Amino acid sequence: MNDRLNVRALSKRFATSEGCFDALTDISFRVAPGEFVACVGASGCGKSTLLRIIAGLESLSSGEVLVDDHPILGPDRDRAMVFQDYSLYPWLTVLENIRFSLRLTANRRAHTLGDAHGAAERSMLLLELMGLTHVRDAYPHTLSGGMRQRVAIARALLTKPHILLMDEPFGALDAQTREVMHDLILHLLALERLTILFVTHDVEEAVYLADRVIVLAPGPGHVDSIWPIGQPPALERTQDLKRSPGFLAMEGKILARIRATSGLQSDIAVLHRLTGQIDRRAAS
Ligand SMILES: Nc1ncnc2c1ncn2[C@@H]1O[C@H](COP(=O)(O)OP(=O)(O)OP(=O)(O)O)[C@@H](O)[C@H]1O
Ligand SMILES: [Mg+2]
Repeated sequence: MNDRLNVRALSKRFATSEGCFDALTDISFRVAPGEFVACVGASGCGKSTLLRIIAGLESLSSGEVLVDDHPILGPDRDRAMVFQDYSLYPWLTVLENIRFSLRLTANRRAHTLGDAHGAAERSMLLLELMGLTHVRDAYPHTLSGGMRQRVAIARALLTKPHILLMDEPFGALDAQTREVMHDLILHLLALERLTILFVTHDVEEAVYLADRVIVLAPGPGHVDSIWPIGQPPALERTQDLKRSPGFLAMEGKILARIRATSGLQSDIAVLHRLTGQIDRRAAS
């Protein structure tokens, strides 16, 4: 089977006022159609930059990103992105937010009236699927965090993307709402035949949701390791899984890799120096 996503020797160098900064180097991995891949790693190792490049929102410095064997040329409706902060338009209602991308495509020549009708119908189905029908005319500021994130996901799904890119989408939610969203996303994965690349700080979330977990390491950002998870199929997964010995062992191994590569040791060394200074001052 062909890859849905193929990232080949990708590197990213930012030009800053202090000179060049290498954010990512030689990143390579493949994602099969229908696969759920999570990406974890220390803060600042380049996870969001990688996702933005794949979304076409940021340029790459070298290497290439192929979607269904074609190099990406910029943002396209085959890829949709969901951000941590929901990024809804506050002046639009729930339904208007979900249908927003129709405004963008309406001006394209390939867009037909049939497409518009199909998308309008799909937006109503997505509202229902996300349990948002009763708030379709509400404005984002009147919704809970979980509801806002469901609006953002529905909006991303409207154009039937092949790949859903999610950057810490549940980071701002409480633990219970997060669990509800986990089960929702697993159902969507099965129903919509999506391929998902998902960035998170939460290793438990990554091991629960993903088929494979990529650990990125900083300095500059590179692939440290890739872990096949081997959980039951999406629709058979239950929250109890998180307490199974196999699950906890996998979570422990991935956490250990993140700790080993995060530079935390040097942070602790600085802390020791700091406390040593304070102790010396107290003694004198
Ligand atoms: N536009 C930019 N110009 C210069 N440097 C940038 C730019 N965007 C990101 N960086 C740098 O690239 C590195 C990776 O940033 P990125 O936001 O991708 O990290 P991250 O892994 O998503 O971090 P976090 O887990 O905290 O969200 C950081 O050192 C950041 O300062
Ligand atoms: Mg980030």
